[in-house]
Amino acid sequence: MACISITMHALLLILVAALSSFSNLALAIQPSLGKWKLLKKSIGISAMHMALLPNDRIVTFDRTNFGPSNITFSKGKCPLNADGCYVHSVEFDPASRSIRPLTLLTDTWCSSGALSSDGVLIQTGGNNNGERVVRYFKTCAGCDWEEDRNGLVSPRWYASNQVLPDGKIIIVGGRRQFSYEFIPKTTESDHKQYELSFLLETRDSDAIPNNLYPFLHLSPDGNLFIFAKDRAILLDYVNNKVVRKYPVMPGGVSRNYPSTGSSVLLPLTMSSKKPTPDAEVFVCGGTLSNSIEKALAGEFIAASQTCGRLVINAAEPQWVMEEMPIARLMGDMILLPTGDVIIINGANEGAAGWGVARAPVLNPVLYRYNGAKGNRFEVLNPTATPRLYHSTAHLLSDGRVLVGGSNPNSNYNFTALFPTELSLEAFYPPYLTGTSLRPSITRVDPGREISYKEKLSILCRLKSKYGVQLDKVQVTMVSPSFTTHSFAMNQRVLVLEVEGTRRTSAGDYVVSASAPATATLAPPGHYQLFVINNGVPSRATWVPHGTGHDYEVV
Ligand SMILES: *[C@@H]1O[C@H](CO)[C@@H](O)[C@H](O)[C@H]1NC(C)=O
Ligand SMILES: *[C@@H]1O[C@H](CO)[C@@H](O)[C@H](O)[C@H]1NC(C)=O
Repeated sequence: MACISITMHALLLILVAALSSFSNLALAIQPSLGKWKLLKKSIGISAMHMALLPNDRIVTFDRTNFGPSNITFSKGKCPLNADGCYVHSVEFDPASRSIRPLTLLTDTWCSSGALSSDGVLIQTGGNNNGERVVRYFKTCAGCDWEEDRNGLVSPRWYASNQVLPDGKIIIVGGRRQFSYEFIPKTTESDHKQYELSFLLETRDSDAIPNNLYPFLHLSPDGNLFIFAKDRAILLDYVNNKVVRKYPVMPGGVSRNYPSTGSSVLLPLTMSSKKPTPDAEVFVCGGTLSNSIEKALAGEFIAASQTCGRLVINAAEPQWVMEEMPIARLMGDMILLPTGDVIIINGANEGAAGWGVARAPVLNPVLYRYNGAKGNRFEVLNPTATPRLYHSTAHLLSDGRVLVGGSNPNSNYNFTALFPTELSLEAFYPPYLTGTSLRPSITRVDPGREISYKEKLSILCRLKSKYGVQLDKVQVTMVSPSFTTHSFAMNQRVLVLEVEGTRRTSAGDYVVSASAPATATLAPPGHYQLFVINNGVPSRATWVPHGTGHDYEVV
């Protein structure tokens, strides 16, 4: 009898092992679980960094000394960068799927960035001759990179950025940089850097300063939440003072590069009854700190399956842990217009770095942040393309998630185990493949720069043959990210307070909502405004918000 039960147990283990090795396969492709579409077989470069501009173009780049990319400048237009005539940055138009080569003169490898409040993409740092460079990319038809070679006080390689309530951008950390600084540098204090011992304390060793690309989120009180490894603080960056230390995230897992999990600030709900919303940070995946050393020695250990939620402005914040359906490192966490989270890209084993990950995770998972605990995750339909180290993802205005990049290897190696990947794909989240109707925004009043607390009237339409009405209406504002290394910097979703909805005589709808009240809730900038019907978002309308003056987006 004992013998039989052991056999049964062994059988069960084999079954579990067999099932888990198929963790990438949804049992059957169900239309309601999203779909994939190849948008471009090759954009010529590896989409290692990605940002979206207010004209809905994607700007992406890899590194300038990377060898022969698959795209060259036309004769006579070749800039004098280290790599001769090979292009390393392109603008991609998701609507026409066309690309335009852009000119980078200094190295952008493993750099950071943010869309500034006036709609200019500001990119910072990199490696080699690019480590102190600040680069500007304006939103216009023929714009190209402009580079300021003395833009930063310190070299910043693997730093993270966040837009602040005054419109400045803070740049935190970088390899062997245990400090932060601000751009643009308009005051004397901007020309200094500020020490942050937290970054030094959270490193694993001097050899591997294992807190690169720290996770940054702006708290509604204006302070900056910083997460590195498994610890977090709240920083008053004006006075260079740590105002709060959070409990250590349980589990002993490291979440930052090269152990690479990801993090988002869950949607902030605007309410006149509760002017300061709960601000909840959600961190998922990663691996043990020594995973990189093991992987370099040929042992690829399993990634973490855990996530944690922390209300960073609670009286006594505590991590609440959850488990993803699939263990993952290097997953991109992308906030959807609904506020739900897609976890996409990455691997099941190993670490972040050159060829040190195995077992790509092909299925995205959806996380319904408002769902009942234990019932929030859903495994979605898989892609066929592994997206490992240096892959990226970005929300598009049409509600799709753009995905690109993967191991870039040296010299664009197309025969390596996980080859250099030049393609871009779009993932259609379940709200685009389900049965609920999609609303469309036809006008936003006021049709100009929106001020704090301003009342908005959003005219929208729901095309229905069957008399279906606008239902469970939500209005959200999304701040576009700068994505690299599995962290979408500056992502933010604001759920606006909806005062009411009325039907016009023409059968359209007018949704009345209020703009966010303060710059600490919504730093000045260009936001994507969405109306959501029964969980299905419209296409976004871009709104400049809180910037203090009007902008024309070309
Ligand atoms: C890009 O790749 C294609 C297909 O392999 C090849 O035909 C083309 O010559 C490449 N272009 C460049 C500039 O390397
Ligand atoms: C590509 O990677 C493979 C496997 O690592 C290696 O054998 C090959 O030499 C590389 N090719 C180039 C051109 O570097």
